[in-house]
Amino acid sequence: MAKIIGGVTTSHIPAIGNAMANKLENDPYWKRFFDGYEPVKAWLEDQKPDIAIVVYNDHGLNFFLDTVPTFAIGCADEYVNADEGWGLPSSASFQGDTEFSWHIAESLINQNFDMTTCQEMLVDHGCVVPMNLMWRHLPEWPCQLIPLAVNTVQHPLPSAKRCYDLGKALRVAIESYPEDKKVVIIGTGGLSHQLQGERAGIIDVEFDLQCMNYIINDPEKMTAYSNSEIMRKAGTEGVEVIMWMVMRGALSPNVNVLHKHYHAPISNTGAGVVLLVDAKD
Ligand code: DHB
Ligand code: FE
Repeated sequence: MAKIIGGVTTSHIPAIGNAMANKLENDPYWKRFFDGYEPVKAWLEDQKPDIAIVVYNDHGLNFFLDTVPTFAIGCADEYVNADEGWGLPSSASFQGDTEFSWHIAESLINQNFDMTTCQEMLVDHGCVVPMNLMWRHLPEWPCQLIPLAVNTVQHPLPSAKRCYDLGKALRVAIESYPEDKKVVIIGTGGLSHQLQGERAGIIDVEFDLQCMNYIINDPEKMTAYSNSEIMRKAGTEGVEVIMWMVMRGALSPNVNVLHKHYHAPISNTGAGVVLLVDAKD
């Protein structure tokens, strides 16, 4: 049976990708940020998941504003990264698991989450930067990828509550797959940031820390926030935090925190890392 071994959250800022490409991890500006990933990397190295389900938003590479699915899942054997114009070198392609993807898609749709299924899907920095943060500078990707895209770009967006419920349905989908697969769920994006307009660059550290606390300990409280409230506090792109709720919904009601780290600002963004596993009770 497929099993969720844990959940990770991370920001997916393109500048992080550039820093990794240029091996700037020990640069004074970046060191504390990257040090925050060491325990997660060590855990992944030890646990060796077979599949990473990466919950991210596409920023215009695969879906443009003319057609944006609310929730989309990759159902392909390969996912290709492409130049987004950030000066980032494109990463090696990722191997998918078509059969597992279709199983998840079918289960989610049976549970009333009407997923868009993508048999071709370019993956952007939202997915690739987290993969690189987890498995950096390796000769090849050590696990397969299933990308799950959430619309956090073109309004109307799904709510934090809907994302949390999607995570719960994702757990049912994974646990009903008969093959033995170790799955890690990676929720990406956030925390507070706004990339344009008068409030560009705003960061609300207190709100970020409260979100991390609610998501870990009391996710129902996080579901009480509307997207407008999140954007007022955390900036327009800060709403990406709703994708952390997909990861959280896929874990058990009580979780153990194996690691938690926050750093701000990094490239005008509040950046949080959390590693959670199901509590035994
Ligand atoms: C930036 C882009 C992102 O997609 C994000 O989540 C955070 C920051 C940026 O361009 O700086
Ligand atoms: Fe983003």
